[in-house]
Amino acid sequence: MENLQLRSFAEYKKAYKKSLKDPEGFWEEIANTFTWQQKWDKTLEWDFEKPEVKWFQGGKLNITENCLDRHLEKLGNKTAIIWEPNDPDEESRYISYRQLFVKVSRFANVLKNNGIGKGDRVCLYMPMIPELAIAMLACARIGAVHSIVFAGFSSSAIARRINDSECKMLITANEVYRGAKKVNLKEICDKALEETPSIETVIVYRRTVEPTAMKDGRDKFWFDELQKAEKDCPAEVMDAEDLLFILYTSGSTGKPKGMVHTTGGYLVGTTYTFQNVFQLEKDDVYWCTADIGWITGHSYIIYGPLASGATTVMFEGIPSYPDYGRFWEICEKLKVTHFYTAPTAIRSLAKQPLKFVEDHDLSSLKVLGSVGEPINEEAWHWYNDNIGKGNCPVVDTWWQTETGGIMISPLAGITPTRPTFATLPLPGVQPVLMDEQGEEIPNTNEPAEGRLAIKFPWPSIARTIYGDHERYKEVYYSTFKNKYFTGDGAYRDASGNYRITGRVDDIVIVSGHNLGTAAIENAIDEHESVVESAVVGYPHEVKGNALYAYVILYNDIEPSEELIKEIKAIVSETVGPIAKPEKIQFVSGLPKTRSGKIMRRILRKIASNDTADLGDTSTLLNPEIVDEIMAEAKH
Ligand code: WTA
Repeated sequence: MENLQLRSFAEYKKAYKKSLKDPEGFWEEIANTFTWQQKWDKTLEWDFEKPEVKWFQGGKLNITENCLDRHLEKLGNKTAIIWEPNDPDEESRYISYRQLFVKVSRFANVLKNNGIGKGDRVCLYMPMIPELAIAMLACARIGAVHSIVFAGFSSSAIARRINDSECKMLITANEVYRGAKKVNLKEICDKALEETPSIETVIVYRRTVEPTAMKDGRDKFWFDELQKAEKDCPAEVMDAEDLLFILYTSGSTGKPKGMVHTTGGYLVGTTYTFQNVFQLEKDDVYWCTADIGWITGHSYIIYGPLASGATTVMFEGIPSYPDYGRFWEICEKLKVTHFYTAPTAIRSLAKQPLKFVEDHDLSSLKVLGSVGEPINEEAWHWYNDNIGKGNCPVVDTWWQTETGGIMISPLAGITPTRPTFATLPLPGVQPVLMDEQGEEIPNTNEPAEGRLAIKFPWPSIARTIYGDHERYKEVYYSTFKNKYFTGDGAYRDASGNYRITGRVDDIVIVSGHNLGTAAIENAIDEHESVVESAVVGYPHEVKGNALYAYVILYNDIEPSEELIKEIKAIVSETVGPIAKPEKIQFVSGLPKTRSGKIMRRILRKIASNDTADLGDTSTLLNPEIVDEIMAEAKH
């Protein structure tokens, strides 16, 4: 395993230049440092019109050989995963690379014994316990495709995802601890399983001793299956372009998009970016607080860190349990050197008395990271001053489920940082700003603002939407010719630093979670009293954004608190508790264009209490509705 780290700003600039001039040569050199069973014969084939992207075609490898086997000789006894439980009185678990290798191999045989093979889809609905990491790596070991569903999602959200990719197996846990609460995951799964004909087997890990209802012939306990499994499991030979995983993300229509990531490019991309952005040294302890159910957990708790031979922390709990000092207590206890979290967590912790921070020794920290949404100035400074004590570079990393890895970010200690700016593209990434006319705004020394697109492929780009390549084309490649469109707006300063300003489509990021407003509207519309609804985002102090729902009821229905509760419950059940609207306003109509499209721009402004300039409303079909909505708006 070679170190891929650039060491100075001059080296970064040189690498960036090279990646522009000779992208294939640039990535070949990096890819050569990994373990391949057979080298590739074609580095890159791409066409954003089709669209099609293929990296390292003909290359054969297994990502687990890169995350586990290749470290055994030199790092076998090094801690791969430190697991920190929800309850601080329960013991932490330290799992070495060798132990992880053994556990993954054995569980891979459990999968095989239960009829799972290369290409089969396996759904994981699990808490943040090491078994989640083991199950995902075991899938990769045998070439099965994991589809992890965040364990805060509802039964129907699980069922939809399982059915979309026809998973054969579901792996879950009986219960999960979340702060002071216990949630019965198996029960949630059982409800989902009523609608998922493709599932043949359910493997249940017992996180607690509570009795669990098991369905004969279908449900099996993790430990029972392990007893029966062989120890060794050779790594399946995978083509570089074979599927590694599917991960669902919200879209502008109600249906989630199953983003497909493939083996070779994803490995190369996540490892290179992990090493360069975070700049770990040999004995560092790296902690990313994301849940593995999101892309940040996939790429920067598991694959990137493990392929780099790093020590990665997995935390089962929440930042407020048993008190608001928990994150800092863990940093002190485990001597965390690299800490990577989301602005929403920073904002909520910044609201607490500083005592929660000051009670802990944070001197081990070297680098701080931020991800998932724009970080505001105040949160950036609080993080930098109180957590980093002004000594730790803050890397504000911009990327997406679709990009697989970090795209725009400072390299820790190397790139000059600027509060609220993700700064410069990583080597191999070619961002462009597009204006209203769809023209590229040249990157000169003029500040500019526009929509963010990328004009050249990078190895970890998602290859398609599972089962719907047309939608993939439509969503990402139809806005700008020959470019990948991110859905984000951005500002670029005179030195070429990027600041991401937020989504420009119908996706709202609430507490770092991407939510499609269409899916929430569909859920609300299912309520028998509802005619139609429109959901928009508005700025929120802690969550970044919150949701505001405008709801039209049938004529004979009176608005009531009860209805508000029911609507929230239906959203919670169909999409998940995180999608519940903060505010619900009953209206008699929605502002519509003459072609019947809801004017969301106006609704967003009303929700944000920013109504000084609503723009031209005279072209609306029903301009009078705007005054009514404004008069009754909830602020
Ligand atoms: C937003 C998370 C500003 C952005 C890795 C993007 C950010 C969406 C940042 C993807 C950042 C992510 N600054 N905005 N540093 N990082 N975003 O798919 O709108 O969950 O399009 O991936 O989060 O969210 P996703």
